[in-house]
Amino acid sequence: MTDGPIRAGVLGASGYGGAGLVERLVRHPGVTLAAIGSRAYLGKPLAASWPHLAGLRSDLRFQDSDDVIAASDVVFCATPHGATAPLVAQALAAGKRVVDLSADFRLSAAAYEEWYGHPHPHPELLPEARYGLVELHRHELPGARIVASPGCNATAASLAVAPLAAAGLLGEVAIANVLTGVSGAGRSPSGPMHFSEMAENARPYKPAGTHRHTAEIEAVGGRVRAALARGDAKRLLTHAPFQPVLVAFTPHIVPMNRGIIATVATRPLDWGDRAPTTETVLGLVTDYYAGDPLVDVGPELPQTKAVAGSDRASLSAHVDGRTGQVLVFCAIDNLGKGAAGQAVQGFNVAFGFAETTALSLTGAWP
Ligand SMILES: NC(=O)c1ccc[n+]([C@@H]2O[C@H](COP(=O)([O-])OP(=O)(O)OC[C@H]3O[C@@H](n4cnc5c(N)ncnc54)[C@H](OP(=O)(O)O)[C@@H]3O)[C@@H](O)[C@H]2O)c1
Repeated sequence: MTDGPIRAGVLGASGYGGAGLVERLVRHPGVTLAAIGSRAYLGKPLAASWPHLAGLRSDLRFQDSDDVIAASDVVFCATPHGATAPLVAQALAAGKRVVDLSADFRLSAAAYEEWYGHPHPHPELLPEARYGLVELHRHELPGARIVASPGCNATAASLAVAPLAAAGLLGEVAIANVLTGVSGAGRSPSGPMHFSEMAENARPYKPAGTHRHTAEIEAVGGRVRAALARGDAKRLLTHAPFQPVLVAFTPHIVPMNRGIIATVATRPLDWGDRAPTTETVLGLVTDYYAGDPLVDVGPELPQTKAVAGSDRASLSAHVDGRTGQVLVFCAIDNLGKGAAGQAVQGFNVAFGFAETTALSLTGAWP
């Protein structure tokens, strides 16, 4: 634990991820929320952007990114990919540490170029990054200068893929179908997210092979296999070599404010002498996440409402004895375990705080 409160700054504090960070960091006992950043709300108070946070810290006013970085020991970046890497470089050059919610430090330089279509703007900084899927990277986060928090869809699908990879149950390909709420697209308005086009509507987008989160999910499965070969399928290494698994990932946008539910289905090539039952797979998933405070596994099928407003993930499993398909389900709040909650979870481990400090263990029901 560091002496005295850590000064935290939030870039992109006028966005959805930023609001979730502000909520959590304000109640963190080891943190002083020192500064919040926005260009559109520059000089305005927190409540100008966030009516639900009125009265929380009436002294806080939005500042530009230079001032936020200068005022902080740790900079949380809840800013768009592409725009974030230069901010991370600036923060590191000033001796700060970073928790990045964007995609800029989640992939290797080669994978980044493949999926984002251009070379990484700061490849020299990539070795500083640790992938912030805490359940699987906990051991390599302490002291990290960049925690690269995973994507929201990637979090839900990866938490479902990982125990299958660890148990040797992934077939040639895993199908990951994900339903995701509208806030996953951020706060900026766009035509297809307009209420009149989104309400009472559901549609796939960026189908299998085209969504960039595919690279993260495939990397997690590959890293689990590599970790298993090293002797512990829960000690993943961000920078060790691995062979990605094959995942056909298709997100579907549905008319919810928040929430993600992932269904990962695969047909194992070889069950060995294990019986292909729901109980068997549930047991494997339960064992894999034993001791993880933010992951629940049980026989009840997960639902987004049960985790809305929380920082937990809810998983279950099912075996279709007729087709031989194994299914693992995972529900998260995209703004909780999928964004701000996971980022603060990663910060907690990186800075030596108890993992669930300032996080929400319960959702809002109904
Ligand atoms: N929404 C989710 O479920 C989710 C989950 C996981 C990760 N993420 C990632 O987290 C990041 C933030 O997502 P979000 O949903 O919070 O987006 P958002 O609601 O659109 O907010 C983006 C924020 O970034 C600021 N910003 C935009 N362009 C900028 C630039 N060039 N330089 C500095 N600041 C800039 C915006 O404020 P100003 O325009 O006022 O500066 C705003 O505060 C993204 O990288 C996203 O991919 C989002």
